Amino acid sequence: MRHLLSASDLSRDEALLVLDTAERLRELADRPIKKLPTLRGRTVVNLFFEDSTRTRISFEAAAKRLSADVINFSARGSSVAKGESLKDTALTLEAMGADAVVVRHSASGAPHRLATSGWIRSSVINAGDGTHEHPTQALLDAFTIRRHLGGLEGRRVTIVGDILHSRVARSNVLLLSTLGAEVTLVAPPTLLPVGVEQWSCAVSYDLDAVLPKSDVVMMLRVQRERMPADSEARARGTAYFPSAREYSRRYGLSGDRLAALPDHAIVMHPGPMNRGMEISADVADSPRSVVVEQVTNGVAVRMAVLYLLLAGARPASDEAERGGE
Ligand code: CP
Repeated sequence: MRHLLSASDLSRDEALLVLDTAERLRELADRPIKKLPTLRGRTVVNLFFEDSTRTRISFEAAAKRLSADVINFSARGSSVAKGESLKDTALTLEAMGADAVVVRHSASGAPHRLATSGWIRSSVINAGDGTHEHPTQALLDAFTIRRHLGGLEGRRVTIVGDILHSRVARSNVLLLSTLGAEVTLVAPPTLLPVGVEQWSCAVSYDLDAVLPKSDVVMMLRVQRERMPADSEARARGTAYFPSAREYSRRYGLSGDRLAALPDHAIVMHPGPMNRGMEISADVADSPRSVVVEQVTNGVAVRMAVLYLLLAGARPASDEAERGGE
């Protein structure tokens, strides 16, 4: 595989290979010498057109632990702010000899465009594109579930919240179903995408009915920034939810709801969290919450992805020396 654009790029065996590789790399990270020489001389570019904390930092840490050189590019403060196109930005990266480009973009499909355009020869990794996909988040979520519950086969994973705008939900449904988990989405009808009935998962509007049967509950942030202004939505009759308080009452994970979960069940959230909205602060900080561990696991999973995409590939610097075949 040359690129990672969608969780659907991965067969069951390929997904398990990423998770098994991440497991070995995580063990190495616990040793005193954390750095491996595997990607010495390779260049990884973090190309972020949208804000990020966890994904950008963990890709940077992952690349550095594999001894790659890292270039961090943020659209804010770059020539993109002056109107430079994706194509010209890509050609600039190509001229700098990038071996992998990790891209986050507000436009769904931007990483696919980069990978198939012919503008660059490097591997492209989707770090979140619009409301479409976030495959490395799904991989780190699968990795975290496997570490806690021993496997994915037959596990009941409930994903709750703003499914409509969630690239995390889409990638998780694809990956977790590939790995044999049974996924249920819980959301108000207005926060479910058109065509969700075609996805390989169940759908419910009743969180309290689903929680006692869940091995994992994954809470999602309500992405107000991707919604039309409330006044505009109300005028069109498409208001997404009546109020934050009402949303929290019906779909938030409170201490009472936590108590309804089976004893072994874990609570996940990809972050950033809206404490008090989709998850209460006491649940976010409870021993059942694996939110911080998800971040730790993200580094090992991204190391595995970079390793599997780049370790066998020819470095961009070789191509440059040969005049770029
Ligand atoms: N989970 C996630 O993608 O977080 P960031 O937006 O902080 O990268």
